[in-house]
Amino acid sequence: MLRENLFEKLKCYSDFSSKEKDLILASANYNNARILKEDSVFRKNHSLDDSIQDLSFLECLGAITSKTWAHDICMADQFLKDQKCISLFDRSVILNNWLASNGICPLLRFAFSKWYEIDFPEDVEDLAELSLVYLYKIIPHVFSNLSKNEEFIAEGAYGRVFIGEDKDKVIKYPYNFAAKNFMLDMESNVYKKSIGSDLNNYFAKLYKFHDGIMVKEYIEGVSGWYLLEHDKEFRADPYNLKQLEEIYHLINKFYLEYNINIDMHPGNFQWSYKDNKWFIVDYGAMPKIGSEYFPRDCFHKYFKKIWLDLHSLMKDIPIRSVDLLFYK
Ligand SMILES: Nc1ncnc2c1ncn2[C@@H]1O[C@H](COP(=O)(O)OP(=O)(O)O)[C@@H](O)[C@H]1O
Ligand SMILES: [Mg+2]
Repeated sequence: MLRENLFEKLKCYSDFSSKEKDLILASANYNNARILKEDSVFRKNHSLDDSIQDLSFLECLGAITSKTWAHDICMADQFLKDQKCISLFDRSVILNNWLASNGICPLLRFAFSKWYEIDFPEDVEDLAELSLVYLYKIIPHVFSNLSKNEEFIAEGAYGRVFIGEDKDKVIKYPYNFAAKNFMLDMESNVYKKSIGSDLNNYFAKLYKFHDGIMVKEYIEGVSGWYLLEHDKEFRADPYNLKQLEEIYHLINKFYLEYNINIDMHPGNFQWSYKDNKWFIVDYGAMPKIGSEYFPRDCFHKYFKKIWLDLHSLMKDIPIRSVDLLFYK
């Protein structure tokens, strides 16, 4: 679903202000420089350093058309690869400069501790999807129709969530360009697709999606992440593991049917003490790159890696899917 109109989404880059464009480009390079060194000061200086902005290749890289864009980008990268003198990182910088000068969103190449090469047009599509989701998060979106009686409860990477006056609904407002333009839209489409299936019984109800804003059933309780963090007994004896396992299988089934990766992160699950039940409060999908991290073959593997181990690991070394520059 994130894959729909990928090229149009990449082209949105051309509508940003020059300050926004510069930030996105620098951010992509800053992230990609992780292939050189993890140190953030080094990467910041390096990504903003004009000497790496070699423009001499730009003219050799050809044109990008809406029909063959993934192929065109793949060919351009191949051309740069054939120039043996260019390092991996410099190649990505040149390619990103070329994309940006064509009004196309630059590409993230380093994610989840790994460098992604472009060998086929499909690799370009995978990277495009990843880059849009992350880089368009940098651009803030200010929402204005907040009512006085709504109280902030929590936020994720895309939405700020408020509880309504009657305390039975939450309102999720998009607060960045990615959320406003496609992430919440996609989340509401996941909901629509799930209607009538068993999976839908575990989703917080979506009452309304209008003008980029979601109104959902409020699930009073605590998130899986909160329980891992604050409740020692939960780790030893997690609540209703059978039910989590059922949800896990339903999500996998949904994936096989629609090729949509629902983000099965513990922060998206909410435990309701009242109903003695797990709910998924965020049914947003994630890009293909990164979704491989979630074991699909065995629930216990998934639970150990994504709930128990990930939580301890995040405390010691926060895993950075990607590392971006934001407005101060
Ligand atoms: N329906 C809900 N009921 C209760 N809490 C919610 C609900 N929806 C979201 N939240 C809280 O808000 C947080 C952020 O919402 P989420 O939908 O996950 O946003 P994002 O898409 O930005 O990750 C959740 O982790 C959860 O703590
Ligand atoms: Mg979330």
